[in-house]
Amino acid sequence: MQRRKFVAAASLAAAPAAAMEESPVRGTPLKAGYWGPQFYDEQERNELLDVLAARSPFRWYGPQTPAKVLRFEKEFAARMGSRYALAVTSGTAALQCAMAACEIGPGDEVILPAWTWHSCFNAVVLAGALPVCAEIDETFNIDPAAVERLITPQTKLIMAVHLQGNPCHLDRLLALAKKHGIRLLEDCAQSVGASYGGRPLGSWGDLGIYSLQMNKSITAGEGGALVTNDPVLFERAARFQDLGGFRAPHAEAAGGARLGWTFGANYRMNEFTGGVLLAQLRKLDRICNAVRQNARQVYAGLSDLPGVKFRELPDPDGELGAGVFLDWKTKERADRFLTAMKAENVLASKPGGSVILPTLPHIMEKRSLHPLWPSFQSPRGKAIRYAPDTCPRTIDILQRYAGVLMDPKFSGKDVGDIVRAIRKVYGRV
Ligand SMILES: Cc1ncc(COP(=O)(O)O)c(C=O)c1O
Repeated sequence: MQRRKFVAAASLAAAPAAAMEESPVRGTPLKAGYWGPQFYDEQERNELLDVLAARSPFRWYGPQTPAKVLRFEKEFAARMGSRYALAVTSGTAALQCAMAACEIGPGDEVILPAWTWHSCFNAVVLAGALPVCAEIDETFNIDPAAVERLITPQTKLIMAVHLQGNPCHLDRLLALAKKHGIRLLEDCAQSVGASYGGRPLGSWGDLGIYSLQMNKSITAGEGGALVTNDPVLFERAARFQDLGGFRAPHAEAAGGARLGWTFGANYRMNEFTGGVLLAQLRKLDRICNAVRQNARQVYAGLSDLPGVKFRELPDPDGELGAGVFLDWKTKERADRFLTAMKAENVLASKPGGSVILPTLPHIMEKRSLHPLWPSFQSPRGKAIRYAPDTCPRTIDILQRYAGVLMDPKFSGKDVGDIVRAIRKVYGRV
């Protein structure tokens, strides 16, 4: 025993100082996981078992009266600070419902950020309208100044997409929408549970949509929701997701039907999904608070680094803390940071979860579903260009920022390791 201790001490003493310094911050790699599923427990299980026992998986009728999706809608509306909520099959479906609610169609233009998820662009094209891409700013969200330059008499909607947990500059976007008489849709797919000015995201604009897919705050694998305070927008959205009809419980919630039967798709949520989401919704604040707390510790642990600049946060108290991103000033330095963090066994990444729309080949070629599809037939549609040189600022911002993603179940040691790793590589990068 004595001898073994001595040998170990001697080999430590003999190790070259440089090699000791180079030992990684972590022995096992650290990586953020999927948030909601880490909180699955008997609550989700019991919700699912209820649906099985009732043999009533369809939301509107069955051997027993189903209530999961309807209850989810009520609780979701309350949590999101909106009068009406509509549960649907995905965030993508919710966006299409929002287009129908706002009566977006051929000849209309919709301004959206150049950096966002496919669903946003696709919803506009599927409605037959023209997507107009605006540059992002250092929040990684749509830049209000860029939006203002793109408004034309045809602009009918602005999509304020709150990406990676961070609210847009909502006050400026809302002022623009009001000034020009344009509707504003908040896409909160990546920011479920975040707020702005103390009010939940999604409750500020004419409508809000959310995704409940696995990469989001809470999840049933797939799922989506739409909220609004306007009974007519709610009715149009609800009719679109249910083949044009408006079921009695929704009509009752809206104070009666105001419109007639119309056209629509089927994006109805089923009771299994509704049950899991009901259980997850009740954990949303716990999940968000845990992530936020971890992110705050990372910000605090790095704030004294010389020259440090973080992604801009229009509301630091309301943002989710899904990631902590630093401006490395050049792409080369951001890449060096990623490599250095990998050597420390702490996974770092560039901003993610979205695509730079004007750089995608099918968008540059203005492909759609049919040669006569209306989106690109108008004079504006024919003239518009989607190409990397239409969004140089977006490309630049996304190349020079890099950081770490947060997880609600990171331990104090995990968060400490993140801070230590970034501090260790900061000067070298
Ligand atoms: C900004 C944004 N909008 C909409 C969606 C669509 O959500 P879903 O995947 O539930 O269809 C996503 C999905 O990632 C998204 O990131």
